Amino acid sequence: MSSSQSSPSSPPPTSGDSPPPNLPLKKIPGDYGLPFLGPVKDRYDFFYNQGRDEFFRSRIKKYNSTIFRTNMPPGPFIAHNPKVIAVLDAVSFPVLFDTSKVEKRNVFDGTFFPSTAFTGGYRVCSYLDPSEPNHAILKGLFLSLLAARHNKFIPLLQNSISDLFTNIEDSLSKTGKADFNTLSDNMSFSYFFRLFCDRDPSDTKIGSESNGSKILSSWLFLQLAPLFTLGLKYLPNFLEDFLLHTFPLPYFPVKSGYEKIYDGFYVSASKILDEAEKLGMKRDEACHNLVFMAGFNSYAGTKVMFPDLIKWVASAGESLQRRLADEIRTVVKSEGGVTYSALNKMSLVKSVVYEALRIDPPVPYQYGHAKVDMVVHSHDAAFEIKKGEMIFGYQPCATRDGRVFENPDEFVGDRFVGEEGEKLLKYVYWSNGRETDDPTTENKQCPAKDMVVLLSKVMLVEFFLRYDTLTVEVGTLLLGASVKITSLTKAGAATA
Ligand code: HEM
Repeated sequence: MSSSQSSPSSPPPTSGDSPPPNLPLKKIPGDYGLPFLGPVKDRYDFFYNQGRDEFFRSRIKKYNSTIFRTNMPPGPFIAHNPKVIAVLDAVSFPVLFDTSKVEKRNVFDGTFFPSTAFTGGYRVCSYLDPSEPNHAILKGLFLSLLAARHNKFIPLLQNSISDLFTNIEDSLSKTGKADFNTLSDNMSFSYFFRLFCDRDPSDTKIGSESNGSKILSSWLFLQLAPLFTLGLKYLPNFLEDFLLHTFPLPYFPVKSGYEKIYDGFYVSASKILDEAEKLGMKRDEACHNLVFMAGFNSYAGTKVMFPDLIKWVASAGESLQRRLADEIRTVVKSEGGVTYSALNKMSLVKSVVYEALRIDPPVPYQYGHAKVDMVVHSHDAAFEIKKGEMIFGYQPCATRDGRVFENPDEFVGDRFVGEEGEKLLKYVYWSNGRETDDPTTENKQCPAKDMVVLLSKVMLVEFFLRYDTLTVEVGTLLLGASVKITSLTKAGAATA
């Protein structure tokens, strides 16, 4: 056990969203177990014996605390140090957003750092702490390129979604089911490529959008495998654990695919690369960053987010679907189209998007090393964390905190409607920051925070301009939910 339990002679700074009321200073419960065996036991609990939600729930119960010590996977031999202090409530979690208190260097994937072979030998923006000069250059570049493309977000997505729904309808009529994930992934890849490169991926070495999407999925898998379980019936747990969680997977199987993607961006995004060079970046470093931003941040983000959104809207049932259709059609008619101003007037659509991001944040894990000694408090107690310790948050616990949200495990479509509802937005953390905060070059909040909400809104709007209701079959994938559309009712028509 670390020596972090001693009482400070003068209290260190505190974290959280309000000054601590007179909370007792307690010793952080939990331990790391024996060297090697403790982390492996926690890894088995996380992946096989309990599953990730139960892993956290059972420990919160056992320690009667939302802050405790545990190991996080993968542990040996991939992660040098798996020991973390978990912060699992809405009050303590935001310490992870405060870059004056936590260092975000190389913690994007958690306690391990995939080889830089996957990113051309460079540590890309997501792995940089804001104290590193390249972070401000790259994030500033991303923020300005998003601002410059602002007017393309909606029409380009409308175009892509139109093809998506044509493909979904084709598949439904041929096989009675449409695999939303695959079709949505293909659309997302093509959308981001066209947004950043002003051309179609099929005009480059990448080839079809489905080829680009497959390459990126394999590239993501090899980097993130230590965090996955395949859930295959016939693969014994010990074998899967050995294959995925014990040694880092190599880059070479995706090398030629990655090179095609890199080449596609290199020849097509020359204006962005010129700008990066003017800011002092090397051209190839900027291009690997661009690929990561489009292929990891954007593509992997929407890979989880769009299916989750459709899953929740489908499972919320016809009543919510009809209310959404009503709001969308009324506003689009009165505003004369799908515009920024129209989207801002759709309070139910907005709330549904925030609710989906609250209940299932697409990036569930956040990490940071304590930069200073500090006191972090939960609803019930204060705890001292020492400089250098790893703080970890499993976001679904924080954004389903029953002391902040009523019926936290229920999808409540209109939760964020109205003045009272909007007050809860500061507890929505999906972007690695509060929904009421903005991304800057000094913090680590997603630079596409507003764009991502916009894309989700446009997905709902385009859906309900075409259809009245839908039904789906839901399952689980490595990243997020699997969604198969089983029926669609066209606007004003019978079931398709
Ligand atoms: C559904 C889509 C998306 C989700 C859920 C998402 C989520 C996130 C999260 C949680 C982080 C913080 C990770 C951490 O440090 O713990 C992040 C960072 C980042 N995101 Fe997004 N993102 C999405 C889309 C995008 C898009 C479209 C872009 C394109 C510009 C983007 C660019 C970035 C970048 C560059 C960072 C690193 C920020 C920094 O280093 O300060 N993301 N994103």
